[in-house]
Amino acid sequence: MASTGGRAEAHTAGRDGKGPDGSKGRGASGDTEPGATGTPQALAGEAKGAVEAELGGPDAAETARFLSKVLLPTLARGVLVRRPLMESLVSALEADRGIVSTLRDLRERHGDGPLPLRLAGRDAALVLAADDVRTLLEGTPDPFSSGGREKRGALSHFEPHAVLVSEPEERPHRRASNEQALATGRVLHPDGDVIAAQADEEARALLAALGDGGVLDWNRYSASFDALARRVVFGASAAGDVRTTELLRRLRARGNWSYAAPVQRTVRAEFLDRVGRAVDRAEPGSLAAGLSRKAGSHPEDQAAHWLFAFDAAAIAAFRSLALLTSYSPGAHAAREEIQETEGLDLPLLRATVLESVRLWPTTLAVLRESNRETVWRDRVFPAGTAFVVMSAYFHRDPSRLPYADEFAPEVWIDGRAEEDPGILPFSYGPAGCAGREVVPLTLSLFLRSLVRDRDLTRVDARGPLPASGLPASLNHFALRFTLPGRGA
Ligand code: HEM
Repeated sequence: MASTGGRAEAHTAGRDGKGPDGSKGRGASGDTEPGATGTPQALAGEAKGAVEAELGGPDAAETARFLSKVLLPTLARGVLVRRPLMESLVSALEADRGIVSTLRDLRERHGDGPLPLRLAGRDAALVLAADDVRTLLEGTPDPFSSGGREKRGALSHFEPHAVLVSEPEERPHRRASNEQALATGRVLHPDGDVIAAQADEEARALLAALGDGGVLDWNRYSASFDALARRVVFGASAAGDVRTTELLRRLRARGNWSYAAPVQRTVRAEFLDRVGRAVDRAEPGSLAAGLSRKAGSHPEDQAAHWLFAFDAAAIAAFRSLALLTSYSPGAHAAREEIQETEGLDLPLLRATVLESVRLWPTTLAVLRESNRETVWRDRVFPAGTAFVVMSAYFHRDPSRLPYADEFAPEVWIDGRAEEDPGILPFSYGPAGCAGREVVPLTLSLFLRSLVRDRDLTRVDARGPLPASGLPASLNHFALRFTLPGRGA
């Protein structure tokens, strides 16, 4: 990141296209219109004269449209824990389609941005070009912090010392502890066999509880998935610890209000104490067994984050079931893999999970906060600007991605998704999801055990997903599947 007198030139960040972790590194996306993105040379030259230009933002009508079509549906759904009623409304209205069209129109009228906004009395900027996503994510934690006021406010309700809201001096060793335990960067976790056994046991227990002809709905499924998450994080002895998950859910519901809701300190203390004791007892092969115990590393907060994040994984896997039962050719291929493949390596099933979070991202917006003034094209953004990346806009814009509305697992195998800086279901760069490999691994193993011996069918009112033209939103709470009897 080049910097001039304490001001960061965002254009120059990551233009070599190589992230420190090697991800998302191969070339520009082709996303930006010719001439719209200044090269570093252009910035150093004539464009620099224009750098002090006034920040021009959207007009009143555009701001109103942004608030009603983008911000409101995003916040109403619940950022940390989804609200079923709102999720159903958002799906019925295909609100994610509205996010894509609103942001596309803003880009057409205002250029590549980022587009300055005032949100709740603070400076914000809407990211509109995929190359700018890379600049932000690879410029983390300096000059773009992954913490930020809103995130700290939300997560302090249950994980005040988690890596993603850590101060710069604490971040490196907490990140290293997460990466070590989660084996970040390795497709197959070294304890994959243990994860496979846990996934298989939980899937069998769920199938047995459903019985022949049983209906798999969100409530039954998520109770089982929560138990799987506790098993994978702490070991089999934690499978029945429903209380910890319940406490977390209460605290997350408060977290939806960020710093507008006071922290329930007694509930948080009980929750973190339970997690801390579970970390102390972590069984060999569990994820928590790999966490650092060094002073200041707060393993209980890191594990608390994992339990929280496994909820997104639950949603992703349930929607993956909807993909696997769809009429798409991709579903057929993935189901063949299920029948034919032993062992841990299930590339098509992992790609199904990744498609699930591309098509219906569980992280609705990725945020960064600049810790000094930054320069983007002809605009200067003050320190403290909140940069907002709306995942759906980058993942589902058919004018950008020919496969935007298709189930296309192949894009995760042939490198197209990896090369596109706008595809960020797990984010990337130094503060990207540390679980981005262990999550698809765990889910692929769970899905295989769930589906291998049973002909799962989607039976809710909407029926199986079509072969192409997938809906912009998919309400996971409303999905229902049947498991016909073995003789059926
Ligand atoms: C479908 C499931 C999941 C998705 C889509 C997801 C996605 C994300 C995203 C978008 C971030 C924010 C990164 C950023 O701000 O740039 C993140 C952070 C993180 N995730 Fe996940 N995540 C999932 C599940 C998990 C699980 C189950 C774990 C642990 C077992 C995990 C561990 C982490 C950690 C440790 C961070 C913080 C990274 C940092 O700040 O350095 N995630 N995740």
